[in-house]
Amino acid sequence: MKGQLSWLFGVMILMAAMAETQMLKISNYQFGPFDSSYYNRLAVLKPATISNDALQITPDSIGNFSLSDRSGRIFLNQTFKLWDGDPKETAVSRVASFNTSFLINVFRVNDSVPGEGLTFLIAPDLILPPGSSGQYLGLTNSSTDGLSSNNFVAIELDTYKQDFDPDDNHIGLNINSVHSNKTVSLYEFDIQIAPNGTKFYVVWIEYDGKNKSIKVYMAEQEQLSSPTPSKPSTPVLSADLDLSSFVKQNSYLGFSASTGSHVQLNCVLRWNLTMEVLPGGNKVKNWFKIGLAIGVPAVALFLLGIGGLTYYWYKKWRARSDPNILGALKSLPGTPREFRFKDLKKATNNFDDKHKLGQGGFGVVYKGLLQKENLEIAVKKFSRDIKGKDDFLAELTIINRLRHKHLVRLLGWCHKNGLLLLVYDYMPNGSLDTHIFCGPENTTLNWNLRYKIISGVASALHYLHNEYDQKVVHRDLKASNIMLDSDFNARLGDFGLARALENEKTSYAELEGVPGTMGYIAPECFHTAKATRESDVYGFGAVLLEVVCGQRPWTKIGEFLLLVDWVWWLHREGRILEAVDERLGNDYVVEEAERLLLLGLACSHPIASERPKTQAIFQILSGSMAVPHVPPFKPAFVWSSMPGPGSFSITSCSVTKTADITPISSGWTPQYISRDVQGEFSDSNSLM
Ligand SMILES: *[C@@H]1O[C@H](CO)[C@@H](O)[C@H](O)[C@H]1NC(C)=O
Ligand SMILES: *[C@@H]1O[C@H](CO)[C@@H](O)[C@H](O)[C@H]1NC(C)=O
Ligand SMILES: *[C@@H]1O[C@H](CO)[C@@H](O)[C@H](O)[C@H]1NC(C)=O
Ligand SMILES: *[C@@H]1O[C@H](CO)[C@@H](O)[C@H](O)[C@H]1NC(C)=O
Ligand SMILES: *[C@@H]1O[C@H](CO)[C@@H](O)[C@H](O)[C@H]1NC(C)=O
Ligand SMILES: *[C@@H]1O[C@H](CO)[C@@H](O)[C@H](O)[C@H]1NC(C)=O
Ligand SMILES: *[C@@H]1O[C@H](CO)[C@@H](O)[C@H](O)[C@H]1NC(C)=O
Ligand SMILES: *[C@@H]1O[C@H](CO)[C@@H](O)[C@H](O)[C@H]1NC(C)=O
Ligand SMILES: *[C@@H]1O[C@H](CO)[C@@H](O)[C@H](O)[C@H]1NC(C)=O
Repeated sequence: MKGQLSWLFGVMILMAAMAETQMLKISNYQFGPFDSSYYNRLAVLKPATISNDALQITPDSIGNFSLSDRSGRIFLNQTFKLWDGDPKETAVSRVASFNTSFLINVFRVNDSVPGEGLTFLIAPDLILPPGSSGQYLGLTNSSTDGLSSNNFVAIELDTYKQDFDPDDNHIGLNINSVHSNKTVSLYEFDIQIAPNGTKFYVVWIEYDGKNKSIKVYMAEQEQLSSPTPSKPSTPVLSADLDLSSFVKQNSYLGFSASTGSHVQLNCVLRWNLTMEVLPGGNKVKNWFKIGLAIGVPAVALFLLGIGGLTYYWYKKWRARSDPNILGALKSLPGTPREFRFKDLKKATNNFDDKHKLGQGGFGVVYKGLLQKENLEIAVKKFSRDIKGKDDFLAELTIINRLRHKHLVRLLGWCHKNGLLLLVYDYMPNGSLDTHIFCGPENTTLNWNLRYKIISGVASALHYLHNEYDQKVVHRDLKASNIMLDSDFNARLGDFGLARALENEKTSYAELEGVPGTMGYIAPECFHTAKATRESDVYGFGAVLLEVVCGQRPWTKIGEFLLLVDWVWWLHREGRILEAVDERLGNDYVVEEAERLLLLGLACSHPIASERPKTQAIFQILSGSMAVPHVPPFKPAFVWSSMPGPGSFSITSCSVTKTADITPISSGWTPQYISRDVQGEFSDSNSLM
C-alpha cells in the first residue's frame, strides 16, 4: 500500500507539471487548387480574382481591359491572433510562430519587361488602399506610405526597379512602407521571379515568434504537377522581426500585388499555412487554469485512490471466485439467469425470420414470448462462434452488473453447443433509427422526445464511462442500437461489442479491425483500431446530429459527403438552424436546437482529445454549462499518439508528441489541422 501511495503521489506531481506546461496548439491550412468555391473562404479584393485554378492577385483578363496600373489583395477571410499580452501593459508575453509556403507563377506577358511585384502580407484589415498600383505593390499609396499606422509587414517579390530598389529581381522585408527594411537580390540565388516563359517557385516563410526572426526560402518547382521541392537549407532572406511591435494583435494574412506601366500576372497556385494558436490570455481563463492545475491532480488523486481500492477488492474477489467464469456467472445472486435453449427456441418460434427485430454487430435479434411467464423478450443469437470464450464471458459478467435506466437490461443467457444467446428486455418501440427514418410523416418524433432521447443516451454513456467501477466503452453507438421503451426513453443496447477497460489501459485493441458503422466511427479508429471513450463520444455526436437533422450520418448533401460536414458548413455560414429536421417545421426550441447542433459538432471533433467528456455533455444538455466553442472550419484529423504516463518523465517535461499530418478530407475544403503538442516554453505564462 505504501508503494502504491508514493506512486500516486508521483502521478500527482506529474499531472501538476503537465497542467503547468504550456500547450502548443497549431492550426494548419492547406489551400489550392483554387476554384470558385474559394470565394467563400477568401476575401478577394477587386480587381483580384480567382481564375484558372489560381489566385490572380492582379487581373489576368488579357484583352478586355487593361492589365496595367492595377493592384489587388487576397486574404484569408479570418484574423489570426499574432501576439498575446495585456494591451494596457506594454509587455507582450508571447508572439505566435507561423510557417507558410506558397507556389507562385509570376508571368511576363509577351516576354515584355515585367512589373511590379507580389507580396505576402500581414495586414490589419481587408481594405485595398486606393492608388496602390505601380510602385506601391498594393501595400500603400503616396499619402500613406511609411505611416506606422499602416500596421503591416510584408515580404515583397519585386520585379521592377524603382529608384529606391537595388534591382529588378529582389526580395525584401517591408514594414509599413514599400521602402524595404532589408532587400536581397535574387540573381545571386539564380532565381528570376518573372522569367521569360513559365516558371513556378515555392516560397517558404518561417516566422519564429520565440526568437523573433523571419526566414524566407525559395526554390523552383519544375512543373505545376511536380512534387513540391524540398526547402533549401539556406534562406534567401533572414531578419530579426518582432511582429508584435508592428502588426495588430489580430491581423489578416494574404497577398498583395501590383502592376504599373509594365505588367505581369501575379498568380498564387497553392498555399499552406501553419499557425501557432495562442492560448486565451484573459484573467478569468487564467484563474480557470489555476483551478485546473490544482483541481485536476486533486480529483485524479481521489479517483486513482478509489480506482486503486476498487481494483484491490476486485482482485481479491477474483482470487476467491471460481476460476471458471461460467461457474461464477451461475453463482451470481439474482440475475441473470440461465435460460434453457429449448425455451428460447419456443419463445422465438424456432428463430423465425418473422420474429427478427434486427441485426447487430455479431448476431441477429429476435422477439420472443416466454409463455410461462407471459414475458416479452429480445433474444440475441450470435452468428459466429465466439473466439476467446473466456474473455467474452468475463465481459458478460460486467455487462450483467451494469444497471442503469437508460441501458437495455440483460435478463440472462444461454450457452449450448458453442451457440451463445443473450436475453434482453423487449423494447416495444423498437430502435431509434426506425422512428427517425422509417416512420410515416405524422409519427415523426417531436422535439421534446428527441431531446429526451439524446439526454438519455448521454446519461447512459456517462454511466458506462465514469460511474461504473470498471470503465466500459460501448464501441458501437448508433441509432439502430438505441432502443426506445414504451415511454420513448432511450435505452442503449447491444453490448456485443462493449469491452470493459482494464484499469491500466485506456482502450482495447481489437485485432479484427474496427467494427461499427461508417459515419459513427471516429477518424482515429481507422488508425488505431481501438475504441475509446473518446470514440464513443464521437459516435454520440453522430447520433445526436442524426436525431436533430433527421439524416443519416453518411448522408451526402450537396458537395458534403457526411452530414457533419454539412452541419459544420451551416455553422460557419451562421445558418446552423437550417440543419434541423425540416419535418419538424417550426415545432422546436431554437435555443435547444442550437445547443444540440453545436454539441454534436463538438463531439465530432476529429481530434479525440478535443471532444467533450460525458460529464460536460451532461451539463451542456441540462443547460448548466455553455456549449464549447466550435471552430468555423472542421479541423482535419491529425494522428497524434496519446501521451500516456509512460511517455513522460518528471525531470523532462519537454517531451514533444507530434505526428504526421494525415489530412482525410479531400477536394477544395481548406484543411484546418489542429494538433496538441505538449511542450515547454521558457517564456511560458500559463499560470498568470
Ligand atoms: C468574410 O466572412 C464574413 C463571415 O464569414 C462575411 O460576412 C464577409 O462578407 C466575408 N468577407 C469577404 C470580403 O469575403
Ligand atoms: C468587357 O468589359 C466590359 C466592361 O468593362 C463588360 O461589360 C464586358 O462584359 C466585358 N467582356 C468580356 C468578354 O469579358
Ligand atoms: C516551422 O518550421 C520549422 C522548421 O521546419 C519548425 O521547426 C517549426 O516548428 C515550424 N513552426 C510552426 C509554427 O509550424
Ligand atoms: C502543402 O502541404 C502539403 C501537405 O503537407 C504538401 O504535400 C504540399 O507540398 C505543400 N505545398 C506547399 C506549396 O508547400
Ligand atoms: C501580347 O501580344 C498579343 C499578340 O501579339 C497582343 O494581342 C496583346 O495585346 C499583347 N498583350 C500585351 C499585354 O501586351
Ligand atoms: C525575354 O525575351 C525577350 C524577347 O525575346 C528578350 O528581349 C529578353 O532579353 C528576354 N529576357 C530574359 C530575362 O530572358
Ligand atoms: C491612400 O489610401 C487611403 C486609405 O488607405 C485613402 O484614404 C487615401 O485617400 C489614399 N490616398 C491616395 C492618394 O490615393
Ligand atoms: C524599417 O523599420 C522601421 C521600424 O522598425 C521603420 O521605422 C523604418 O523606417 C523602416 N525602413 C527602413 C528603410 O529602414
Ligand atoms: C535566433 O536568432 C538569432 C539571431 O537572429 C540566430 O542567430 C539564431 O540562430 C536563432 N535561433 C533559432 C533557433 O532560429
